[in-house]
Amino acid sequence: MKIALCCSVKKKDPDKPPDYFSEFDSEETVLDIASTIKGLGHEVSLVEANDRHNLINFFQNHSADIVFNIAEGTNSRFRESEVPALLDFLNIPYTGSNSFALALALNKAMAKRIFRFEGIPTPNFQIFHRADTQLDPRLKFPLIVKPNYEGSGKGISSSSVVYNEKGLYAQVNSAIANYRQEALVEEFIEGKELTVGVLANGKAEALPILEIDFSECHKSGEYFYSWKMKEFQGNKEMGCTPAFYCPARLTEEVAREVKDTALRAHKALGCFDISRTDIRLSKDNIPYVLEVNPLPGLDPKESNFPMIARAAGIEYRDLIKTILANAMERYAISVNNKSQMADSKSYS
Ligand SMILES: Nc1ncnc2c1ncn2[C@@H]1O[C@H](COP(=O)(O)OP(=O)(O)OP(=O)(O)O)[C@@H](O)[C@H]1O
Ligand SMILES: [Mg+2]
Repeated sequence: MKIALCCSVKKKDPDKPPDYFSEFDSEETVLDIASTIKGLGHEVSLVEANDRHNLINFFQNHSADIVFNIAEGTNSRFRESEVPALLDFLNIPYTGSNSFALALALNKAMAKRIFRFEGIPTPNFQIFHRADTQLDPRLKFPLIVKPNYEGSGKGISSSSVVYNEKGLYAQVNSAIANYRQEALVEEFIEGKELTVGVLANGKAEALPILEIDFSECHKSGEYFYSWKMKEFQGNKEMGCTPAFYCPARLTEEVAREVKDTALRAHKALGCFDISRTDIRLSKDNIPYVLEVNPLPGLDPKESNFPMIARAAGIEYRDLIKTILANAMERYAISVNNKSQMADSKSYS
């Protein structure tokens, strides 16, 4: 089959803020995915999706049976939906979630409203469109302030956690000014950091839970999965060396509840093929969903999802194969008969 790998590759640009490209993939990760797809017997073309001309030119001049989509999009509030929306318009099948689920997941507050409607626990929150919004008195300190439409920990550090109104407004101001978007203010959940991979292989299933423990990271000045912790993960000098446990150190009953919550969150947003749900487990064992990532990082060495897959006995090659196979099934494409149905079935 002819597969186009649509990606957003990290660049070096000293004029941009240090976290500007954090959501993008390194060239190495993109090449790892490409060679894995090749190893599965397919033809692969790399398509840098953040260069609009390149993206459009490619699909005007080449055919692809399916796109393996890891593109982050440009900088709109729907950026992760841009490539899938274009592909839907061109009637080209692709892996992963559609533009609707991607836009929804990227808007954390909107996704949280859906979780609430579905009875999925999520921290109490308030959106600050402006820095002079009055704090909802029902919210209990400590609170955490995050930009509403970012990922990879952008705009999140230990100073994002605030203990009084003075600290709150300082952080809200800086989130709005630096990221030019609303600030999401959430109750800070003390407890275990968990993330749950959901992979569909015909049917969506939660993989073993990954627990991330920051108790040995004092030197970093951070105590949760902040931007610095993610960006410099593994750097001993900086103290960004969290410990990973997969499966997480939980009782069977709690683990079942956490997995079920992640699966419900994946389905509530209408994700396809793959997602990773970030959860804080409170001291009384309530799995609070922070967000769902329908485009989780796929760096075979560093990213959480491949780590989880390995713990589940799914080697990287099989992870990529499963994502492709599930998308192909959704579009009713078979390797021999490359016919495609424009109207995709609703597999989640
Ligand atoms: N309400 C909260 N309570 C406790 N910790 C939180 C809360 N919100 C965020 N965090 C911490 O900050 C981290 C990043 O938050 P979040 O997942 O919302 O951001 P993100 O930038 O979208 O992450 P990703 O890299 O997964 O895309 C969480 O993994 C957690 O460690
Ligand atoms: Mg997260």
